[in-house]
Amino acid sequence: MYVLGIETSCDETGIAIYHSEKGLISHLLHSQAEMHSEYGGVVPELASRDHVRRLVPLIRQSLRDSGLQSSAIDGIAYTAGPGLIGALLVGAATARSLAWTWSIPAIAVHHMEGHLLAPMLEANAPAFPFVALLISGGHTLLVRVDGIGCYQLLGESLDDAAGEAFDKTAKMLGLGYPGGPLLARLAEQGSAGAYQFPRPMTNRPGLDFSFSGLKTFTMNTLASSGKTAQDKADIAHAFQQAVAETIGIKCRRALQQTGLQRLLVAGGVSANRQIRETLTAMTGQMRAEIFFPRLEFCTDNGAMIAYAGCQRLLAGQRENLEIVARPRWPLDELPDIAVAATMNS
Ligand code: KG4
Ligand code: ZN
Repeated sequence: MYVLGIETSCDETGIAIYHSEKGLISHLLHSQAEMHSEYGGVVPELASRDHVRRLVPLIRQSLRDSGLQSSAIDGIAYTAGPGLIGALLVGAATARSLAWTWSIPAIAVHHMEGHLLAPMLEANAPAFPFVALLISGGHTLLVRVDGIGCYQLLGESLDDAAGEAFDKTAKMLGLGYPGGPLLARLAEQGSAGAYQFPRPMTNRPGLDFSFSGLKTFTMNTLASSGKTAQDKADIAHAFQQAVAETIGIKCRRALQQTGLQRLLVAGGVSANRQIRETLTAMTGQMRAEIFFPRLEFCTDNGAMIAYAGCQRLLAGQRENLEIVARPRWPLDELPDIAVAATMNS
């Protein structure tokens, strides 16, 4: 089964073609980062308009690159949420219209389920059950995963998402947008131990996170520092270390609490080298396994959406002709793939 995947939830237009047996056939990405950087963050209306401009040419190119006719496509998977409503609507309406024209099913995919399943595109995909840590620009979730659609929320951020904290802290340090990768680069020049940041919510039980205090801590530390380039690099280093260790402590706790031996880490922030190293060391000590997507599939992409949609279509899940766009959509509301096929609308 060939599935075309369409991702337009935020500032990246992602297109992919995934085949149920042959794997990933093609994937293309257009990032709007440069366009939004002038404004220091995503401008929703500009994002929607750019998706309109990019989507159809990227789909055409993807088919061309794969040597496929449109008639070869068996289904379309599109990101239906969570995300920016205008941006989602562009992908959803295009997906639904193409599916109608080509007389094939289209399926609404949850963006975070896409992230969660991205490591399944790798050769060493984890078996169920496992603990998933999803760290992106909009979400920080710890989830027990027993199968596709069997998600039990273990913990989440009570305020800023991990990526949001990176982006806001980067802004304070005078870095551009998106700040996460820029802050990570600056942190490489910082020296360990120059500043000591707190590890929020680690000295009490539970698996929830809070990152907004780290942002305030950065602001105060910066204000009382000499504000030199080295001070900023040291602050970036201390901030990143604090986020990585806090996440590490919570993930260790989640593995202990569930008794599971596998940790999957995905979402844009999972591209962070310090976080990958901290979590790899922690799971190593626990003799647990750890799984990440390749770097390009940590951040938003069409491949993860094509993969997630393909699994649900293969299981027999079908939807009516509604164009689904849900800016807010709790992950644990998703149907278990095993029962989704029996609920066809
Ligand atoms: O998953 P994603 O592409 O989009 C959302 O679903 O939100 O995640 C984007 C987030 C941004 O906040 C970005 O700054 C952050 O991921 N990010 C990073 C790194 N690469 C991307 N944060 C820290 N270190 C990185 N290397
Ligand atoms: Zn994302």
